[in-house]
Amino acid sequence: MNERGTKRNLKSPAVRARGFELRRGYLYESIVGVLDAEGNPHLAPLGVRVTDKHDDGKLVLEARVFTTATTYPRLKRGGECTVHFPGRSQLGLFFLPFRDVLPGLQEGVAPPGMIGRGRSVATPVHLGIANYLEAGVTWVEDEEVNDAIAAQGAAGSRRGVFRLSSRVVVVNDPGSSPITRQDGLILEFLVKASRFRCCPPGSHLQRATVSELAGIIEKMDNVAPGDDKTALALRVLESFLRELNGS
Ligand SMILES: Cc1cc2nc3c(=O)[nH]c(=O)nc-3n(C[C@H](O)[C@H](O)[C@H](O)COP(=O)(O)O)c2cc1C
Repeated sequence: MNERGTKRNLKSPAVRARGFELRRGYLYESIVGVLDAEGNPHLAPLGVRVTDKHDDGKLVLEARVFTTATTYPRLKRGGECTVHFPGRSQLGLFFLPFRDVLPGLQEGVAPPGMIGRGRSVATPVHLGIANYLEAGVTWVEDEEVNDAIAAQGAAGSRRGVFRLSSRVVVVNDPGSSPITRQDGLILEFLVKASRFRCCPPGSHLQRATVSELAGIIEKMDNVAPGDDKTALALRVLESFLRELNGS
């Protein structure tokens, strides 16, 4: 397939339901619900990438989970999970890993069973999150992680790669857009860029900022492939700051 064809394919939505959209190739910030061996519900924020869509409309997602996460062995057992997509007004739910010091985040989690309208689910559903998938889980492989955490020799430098195959897609609020990792990168870029003028002109701090901004733009293409408009805007800002910095 030529480059144009590939880009068109990447941009095509894998799910679109009256506004709610999941795009192929994009990385979304989700909250995954699984059960432990005793059948207790467990929820954790995880990035999931939409990798494929079958002819029958079922989606394939990929999650990469540190082997040290509590969620890892629970996913590795196979079975089912729920993949929730909080809306932009629900960022607070991503504090879930800190449930010990910030109680109340799990309120509204329905254990497996009937969740209304005669529908039965095998995994926990957070009833406060309108849009979610029920998915079958397959462990694919473990991989070495070559990122900043691993470079510092931190424990947990291996991640499991899991394939999540959607069985049911539930869109209760089409107006609630899912949060992409791209959203996070845009904010990170803008915070750093907006502080640029606070650093002494031509200083090491400014040069370091410019190279960090370039790194963010590089990552953007990995988490939101083919999103030319945003990447272009960031590139324009980056070159503007480079000029100010004289680099
Ligand atoms: C927005 C967000 C996205 C995250 N994405 C991932 C991810 O893709 N893979 C991963 O291993 N951890 C990810 N984490 C970190 C895990 O949520 C964190 O390690 C958590 O403690 C795991 O929970 P558990 O130990 O209960 O499984 C993410 C955290 C946040 C807040």
